[in-house]
Amino acid sequence: MRQEELRQLLEDMSLEEKIGQMVQLSADFYKGDAKSVITGPAASLGVTGEDIRLAGSILGAYGAEELMEIQKNYMAEHPHHIPMLFMLDVIHGLKTVFPIPLAQGAAFEPELAQKCASAMTKEAAVSGLHVTFAPMADLVRDARWGRVMESTGEDPYLNGKYAAAMVRGIQGDDMSKPYKMSACIKHFAGYGAVEAGREYNNIEVNEHTFREFYLPAYEEGIRAGAGMVMTAFNPVNGIPATGNRRLMRDVLRGEMGFDGVLITDYGAILEMIAHGYAEDEKDAAHKAVEAGADIDMMTNAYAANLKQLVEEKKIDEALIDEAAFRILELKNKLGLFENPYKDADAKAQGQVRLCSEHRALAREAAQKTCVLLKNDGILPLDMSKKIAFIGPYTNNHEIHSTWAFTGDVKECVTIEAAAREVFDISRTTFHQGAPVVGSDVRLSGFASDTASGKVSAREQEAMLDEAVLAASKADLVVMPLGEHYLQSGEAASRAMIDLPEVQMALFRAVAEVNPNIVVVLFNGRPLDLREISEKSRAVLEVWLPGTEGGHAVVDVLTGAVNPSGKLTMSFPYCVGQEPMHYNEYATGRPYDRNERLCTRYTDVPNEPLYPFGYGLSYTNFDISPIRMSGSEVTEDAPLTAQVTVKNTGDCSGTEVVQLYIRDMTASVIRPVKELKGFQKIWLAPGEEKEVFFEIDEPMLRFVRSDGTWGSESGKFTLWIGSSSMTENGAQFELKL
Ligand code: GLC
Repeated sequence: MRQEELRQLLEDMSLEEKIGQMVQLSADFYKGDAKSVITGPAASLGVTGEDIRLAGSILGAYGAEELMEIQKNYMAEHPHHIPMLFMLDVIHGLKTVFPIPLAQGAAFEPELAQKCASAMTKEAAVSGLHVTFAPMADLVRDARWGRVMESTGEDPYLNGKYAAAMVRGIQGDDMSKPYKMSACIKHFAGYGAVEAGREYNNIEVNEHTFREFYLPAYEEGIRAGAGMVMTAFNPVNGIPATGNRRLMRDVLRGEMGFDGVLITDYGAILEMIAHGYAEDEKDAAHKAVEAGADIDMMTNAYAANLKQLVEEKKIDEALIDEAAFRILELKNKLGLFENPYKDADAKAQGQVRLCSEHRALAREAAQKTCVLLKNDGILPLDMSKKIAFIGPYTNNHEIHSTWAFTGDVKECVTIEAAAREVFDISRTTFHQGAPVVGSDVRLSGFASDTASGKVSAREQEAMLDEAVLAASKADLVVMPLGEHYLQSGEAASRAMIDLPEVQMALFRAVAEVNPNIVVVLFNGRPLDLREISEKSRAVLEVWLPGTEGGHAVVDVLTGAVNPSGKLTMSFPYCVGQEPMHYNEYATGRPYDRNERLCTRYTDVPNEPLYPFGYGLSYTNFDISPIRMSGSEVTEDAPLTAQVTVKNTGDCSGTEVVQLYIRDMTASVIRPVKELKGFQKIWLAPGEEKEVFFEIDEPMLRFVRSDGTWGSESGKFTLWIGSSSMTENGAQFELKL
């Protein structure tokens, strides 16, 4: 529809219709007795028949036939037959489930994430959906927060690359094209900074840090053209994001130029009452619409109060018009006025979901997101040995995440299933050894279909005995261990970031009888791995790898694939170090292991157990000292930094060569290191390649003491290496 026609439509709409566009309800109100997935507190909403008739969007349902039926009936009833928007959390897969975003970040390959996002969008679009609530662009630093699994980690530069890539994967260059949807950048802003890692908590972030670290990735996603942004649950500078005019109108729309639809998070408008920022529902609706929230997700505050607020002249109808028009524009961008069913297609749905192409992509992504944390040479496995697989993830299908509630866990390939395809079964045994969690752990998620049943104490003892006996007879033991998938994700903060105790007991019992242990970790957050690392010969981090996880893990264990993943979130020595991140400030008393009066702990080391950017390979890479093309950068003349990377091992592999920079003196303190570039290179044994990084003035910009974004003359250090701990450095100057 042309803009002028859209404008005319808006003019023809009644106030009630325009307000209706701003209301999002659960699909429950439109689909008989089938249940949709509710991802927030389902309060009694007081929804009227008129609200249902006029609501502009729904969330929580998917399926071509079902959504086509809802659309047909809804449009027939609507006074102007305006199509409805269908939205859902398709975060890292609909039916083909890809690795969680924290894993995808570890591939240091945004292009791969874009392909995964495109494939998941195709499955969602043929299932009738128009908008997905992804990507999450929240920067994270605290492993206690359950939703770190949904982020790509602690670095703003990398997060920005991924946010933009995922938006491109979901939207393409035109979201009205086949198999494309609108993305939704979330949660604006700073949700990843919840204090103490405690879910839904306040954030304590000063303006400088907020702009330097937390905002950039959202902005990259918006620059990539995201059609929607979602408000965060948390306050920012004392005002809940959902009612925060400065944050939404000045920063998001004014500074970042976002002109798409702003949707609240689930129930967030009414939560302003609990925050103590709104008197009641009407006050909350007033504050949210003034802040510029266009769609009210699942509180009905808008439906019940906006008309009265206009009639009482407490808000100008122009606010309603601008919100309703942005929603109509999004529907128009999706082409819904021409085709309200877009890509919904029951036949295609059956062909596309879990198709071999998507499974192959999921397997590739899971291979590339594996991070080898430790290996004394026991990996890749010697297939001539007697091998016992012992652990609750040996044959566990639940290897996606709480955010993959649309996926069917039975479609997931387990380690055992994959191993049986390639190992000599006469020498290979498989044992659960322990339940994922003991009866002391309470689990809950959005979908109740978790198969992790309870195991009696007697059964547990028998499992342990059987496993220890098997370990004593094997040459080496592979132990697939991990958190329960419901121990990470939303509303899953943990004060202790340990593996479940029942699994540590199994691990210790096995270690007693067999020192040749390879641990494979399934988890949605950094964990405290001190004991695991100390008593294992190898540790392979595989996260929650999704549908093809078992195949990918076995590909890596056998050496069919050489692991190349790198951590995007620091693994602390222990939870007491949290929040921990590599791009910290030096302080006035920088850490010095020989100094007492310096920034440090007296009872644990100052370094993480495994740092940002770290990951091993089955081969070794030598990175030469840096060669610089000069010693000065100016606005017109960049520098080139060059290294030679050589594969000095006996198998081919991929290295992620990382560029870090530090601004040594500036008008504000600057991080001790900042990732400013990375290149993945594949090398055959003995092969070497030249790797170049261009150092230009724009990459040296930051939020200066006067709040402006720009660079300052002065001395810089740069490093090029295989993790954030690299000391392979060089110096240069910026002269403006
Ligand atoms: C949840 C989450 C948000 C999600 C929304 C809709 O509470 O915070 O990320 O997209 O509700 O399910």
